[in-house]
Amino acid sequence: MTDSRNKTGSSSGFNRRDFLRGSGAAAAAAAVQTQAAQAMQDSGPAIVRGSQKIALNINGSQHDVTVEPRTTLLDVLRHQLDLTGAKPVSADGSSGASTVLIDGKPATASTILALTAVGKKIQTIESLGGDNPDPVIQAFVKHDAQQCGFCTPGFVIAVRAFLNKNPNATEAQIREGLNGNICRCGTYANIVQAAVAVVKGA
Ligand code: FES
Repeated sequence: MTDSRNKTGSSSGFNRRDFLRGSGAAAAAAAVQTQAAQAMQDSGPAIVRGSQKIALNINGSQHDVTVEPRTTLLDVLRHQLDLTGAKPVSADGSSGASTVLIDGKPATASTILALTAVGKKIQTIESLGGDNPDPVIQAFVKHDAQQCGFCTPGFVIAVRAFLNKNPNATEAQIREGLNGNICRCGTYANIVQAAVAVVKGA
């Protein structure tokens, strides 16, 4: 006997029961998607608005500053803390002039939001100076590794970071390791020689 209920109103083989079954599946899928969207909203990145008071660990000291969500680490260093060694040459960090160390790794301060630097150890070029300058700074002076000097702080930090990780680096490795920094004056040869001198302990 044929089940007429399953074929009512259907000339294509698709019937009311199939429709209801399909509608139920679609409704269930929609419910799952809604729950997923809600979960994404609940666990997504927090939206921060307005000024925030934060503490940054810079060169071994805590600094309390007030920043907006859009404030870069470079802006804080230069305009709030008067640490002007890192330079605002390129907002996208392509010059390397704003290089600092964050948890020991080189990073361009112009591309990092101050809010994201909370809880990290930030080290700027100023920490390598003083009465007993870092050997990299001494080598830059000895090998005349700068002209206008705009790129120099970034290069010194980059050299320091690279040699910390590669204390016995060859000249070729040093050239490769410094390829994220640009010197518009073209003092590359002297910069590399300065870094080689540090490796040799000169
Ligand atoms: S010394 Fe002028 S940009 Fe490098």
